[in-house]
Amino acid sequence: MTDASPIVRLDQLRLDRGGRTVLRDISLQVPRGSIVAVLGPSGSGKSTLLSALTGELPAAAGTVEVLGQPVPRSQRALLELRKGIGVLLQGNGLLTDLTAAENVALPLRMHTRLPAPVIRRLVQMKLHAVGLRAAADAYPRELSGGMARRVALARALALDPPLMIYDEPLTGLDPIASGVVMSLVRRLNDTLGLTSIVVTHHVHETLPIADHAVVIANGGLVFSGTPAQLQASTDPLIRQFLNGEPDGPIPFESRAFTSGEAA
Ligand SMILES: Nc1ncnc2c1ncn2[C@@H]1O[C@H](COP(=O)(O)OP(=O)(O)O)[C@@H](O)[C@H]1O
Ligand SMILES: [Mg+2]
Repeated sequence: MTDASPIVRLDQLRLDRGGRTVLRDISLQVPRGSIVAVLGPSGSGKSTLLSALTGELPAAAGTVEVLGQPVPRSQRALLELRKGIGVLLQGNGLLTDLTAAENVALPLRMHTRLPAPVIRRLVQMKLHAVGLRAAADAYPRELSGGMARRVALARALALDPPLMIYDEPLTGLDPIASGVVMSLVRRLNDTLGLTSIVVTHHVHETLPIADHAVVIANGGLVFSGTPAQLQASTDPLIRQFLNGEPDGPIPFESRAFTSGEAA
């Protein structure tokens, strides 16, 4: 691995939704092999940022480069790009009438022409990677929340994407399952040589496995640094986010707005 170019490069990115600017002036480079935590309160634009990486939402201004190329506009080129991005979306998205193994096999059946025995073997390996080989024949309803999340993770890994994107991977999980999933994210990143972007409002569960952290709030990037630097920040906005309940009754937008837009 001698490629030192960042796997994701955002430069002065602006993203609009429904005619409104959700994020502006986002510049960020994600080095290969790292885990980057994208933190911020609910509604701050974390999922919106992810949709720019997968090309679902085009940039209103600035540039988005993923896997060494600008995110394309054509559908065909986008489909190609997306094979290189493993996405674990909010909610597992598992098909309930398929077993764990069949769910993991889906991307392989759709995007490769590998013979069935090879697919079976690959599925076993992916389930093994998330510690669930024994659950291959279980249906999602027979699995705990944490196990189902790991099956979804195995499915996101099916095509061996170099880049993994996790959107709120801890939602609905208890603390123990959360710990299992987060340490799995770190272990898979390192053993499989991946790069991971973890989007979450679960700061304290995520920082321990992150190499780099960014915080988005009030329509922009308000912090970028190491987890230790984040913890040591004296910025009142960052302190409120770290200590407070960002989703609670107290509005997070404590800073004076610099524009007339709602956040
Ligand atoms: N499809 C959409 N159309 C219009 N506005 C949207 C859409 N999706 C999200 N938004 C708005 O964009 C902002 C950021 O949303 P989102 O990226 O989902 O935040 P987060 O993932 O941080 O909770 C919110 O104000 C939300 O209402
Ligand atoms: Mg979201």
